[in-house]
Parts: sequence; C-alpha cells; structure tokens
Amino acid sequence: MTQRVLYMVACAAPPTTRIRVGIERAQLRGWDVCLVVTPSAYRWIEHEVDELSALTGHPVRFQYKLPTEVDVLPPPDAILVAPATFNTLNKWALGIADTLALGLLTEAIGLQLPVVALPYLNAAQAGHPALARNTTELRAAGVTVLLGGDGFVPHVPKHGDLDAYPWDVALAALPQKG
Ligand SMILES: Cc1cc2nc3c(=O)[nH]c(=O)nc-3n(C[C@H](O)[C@H](O)[C@H](O)COP(=O)(O)O)c2cc1C
Repeated sequence: MTQRVLYMVACAAPPTTRIRVGIERAQLRGWDVCLVVTPSAYRWIEHEVDELSALTGHPVRFQYKLPTEVDVLPPPDAILVAPATFNTLNKWALGIADTLALGLLTEAIGLQLPVVALPYLNAAQAGHPALARNTTELRAAGVTVLLGGDGFVPHVPKHGDLDAYPWDVALAALPQKG
C-alpha cells in the first residue's frame, strides 16, 4: 500500500535542532515524511542533512528549484509546519512566498490541503498584534494553528522547554488514515 506523504516544514526555531524527533514520530504514524526547511533553518541543520535525508529517504529541500530541474519530492497529502516561527506565520498569512517553504504553504491554502501549524515562539513575539491578526487569518483560510490551549503556549523569553514541545498534539491534528 502506498504511504501518505507528509511535508514537514521546519523554520528557524529551536525545535528544528530536534527535527528527527518529529520525523520519527510521524513515521511511526505511517507517514512518508519529506523534510522542507526555510533557508534560515537550513543553516541550523546543515551538519546533519545527509542523516536526515537517509532517515526520510528524500532529499532535504530548502530553496526553490531552477525551472529546468525536476521535482524531487512526491506531492503532499498533508503539511505540518513545525516549528512555525513568528516570521513565517506572519509572512504566510500575508501571502508572501519568498522561500520554498512559504511557496508551498501559501499554495496549500488554495489547493485546500490539510495543513497544521505548531508554532514555537516566546511571549514577547506573541504580544505583537500581527500574530493574533495573522493567526485569525490563517484559521479562517482553513489552517489548523495550534497556538494556545492544548497546542503551543508561548514561553517567557529565553525559557523555552524543548522537551515539552507537543509534536504528538500536532500529529494527532493531521488527517488520520481513512
Ligand atoms: C538562537 C535563536 C533562536 C530563535 N528562536 C526563535 C523562536 O523560538 N521563535 C521564532 O519565531 N523565532 C526565533 N528566532 C528568530 C528566527 O530564527 C528568525 O526570525 C528567522 O528570520 C526566521 O526565519 P524563518 O521563518 O524563515 O525560518 C530565533 C533566532 C535565533 C538565532
């Protein structure tokens, strides 16, 4: 049976240093995981890109291909943005597509793909009015943004807890096998 494809989109926030945890948990749930990172996040994982490619069985993508290049990833059945940064969430809601990650995310809305976003940011970032406004915008467009409640609760600056990052809450919010 062919596996459903999950694009895991990781931005430049600390859980990306543990992206292997998210990938392995998604694989345990039966997903064929493809890792796409932002250019900033790529710098954080550059030293382990070969291992992550071996883990997923797909190249790690971080920038747009050239027009002459072929697609190296299978099309996604769903997308999980984790960790979703303040920066990428705000740009996504505004329709900015200047990274491969944002290109995929902005088009996913029009394609009506299931998309779950699990932020990781601090309370100072969360206090900026753009975040509430843009979270409302993304939710209205059909994106499941797991901010607050059972999802991610912004921490006091410099006091993030990577062990508490709720990967499983995000994975459970994706469409389950039919
Ligand atoms: C050490 C470090 C930790 C950071 N932690 C966070 C974070 O937890 N959440 C966040 O939204 N941005 C964080 N940032 C800022 C983002 O990396 C920055 O806004 C970057 O431009 C995000 O780019 P991206 O959204 O394309 O990945 C951090 C930056 C550094 C250097």
